[in-house]
Amino acid sequence: MTLIDGKAVSAQIKQEIAAEVEQIVAAGGKRPHLAAILVGHDGGSETYVANKVKACEACGFKSTLIRYEADITEAELLAKVEELNQDADVDGFIVQLPLPKHISEQKVIEAIDYRKDVDGFHPINVGRLAIGLPCYVSATPNGIIELLRRYNIETSGKKCVVLGRSNIVGKPMATLMMQKANPGDATVTVCHSHSRDLKKECSEADIIIAAIGKPNFVTADMVKEGAVVIDVGTTRVPDATKKSGFRLNGDVKFDEVAPKCSFITPVPGGVGPMTIVSLMKNTLLAGKKAIYQ
Ligand code: GUN
Repeated sequence: MTLIDGKAVSAQIKQEIAAEVEQIVAAGGKRPHLAAILVGHDGGSETYVANKVKACEACGFKSTLIRYEADITEAELLAKVEELNQDADVDGFIVQLPLPKHISEQKVIEAIDYRKDVDGFHPINVGRLAIGLPCYVSATPNGIIELLRRYNIETSGKKCVVLGRSNIVGKPMATLMMQKANPGDATVTVCHSHSRDLKKECSEADIIIAAIGKPNFVTADMVKEGAVVIDVGTTRVPDATKKSGFRLNGDVKFDEVAPKCSFITPVPGGVGPMTIVSLMKNTLLAGKKAIYQ
């Protein structure tokens, strides 16, 4: 069994990005600039955004954090989005989700100029991904593809089960795994809360990508000997031994599943660090105007 070290891979990629940024700047080019809008004080969002800003520093990017209280109106937020769309210095930006209930997330996502949508959430980027055109790809699935690539994991012709059908992870993950590409070229099954025989589907899979947000959902009896298991779960569970008062729990019952696997990602230190580094890669592409002018 090989433990996939997302922390080490992400550190390596950050170094690669930083080296490229210094080359760009030395040649008289523009330092990539990522802006992030954070609304309210959700604990998870605060941590994610702080980590994104920190990752920008490590990559040599300029970053701008824009904060609003949870009572900001939808119109005010949309006005800020439009301002960032027009700001030539900002190469890409994100609006951290979730947003307060009185604001339509879909409306905000669609207001972002798709050419600056480094989250890859805008329907134009999602649509372009679906038909295999260059686009910004959602960070978590793109990070998983990068792990499969760097660990030389064979995906062509393999049976891949994606657990979960969210717009951010499950759907783009399934799209990428079925893409005519390497990694890709897999036979993909997407399972969700209405799937009938989930255990049977999983136990036939060569690759399981678990993104349902249910701690310890994938047990050893669901996993084929030699399978590749990618755990996207990051549920916070109370843990008095931790300074933060919680720990992150994956969707996979790691201790009993790991011995059966050829490759497995741990939680934490697997997919998580790759998600942020994928956003950094998209920001570098945005800075270089590599996808859209
Ligand atoms: N909330 C959870 N994940 C993400 C993400 O990747 N981007 C944004 N903007 N919000 C999120």
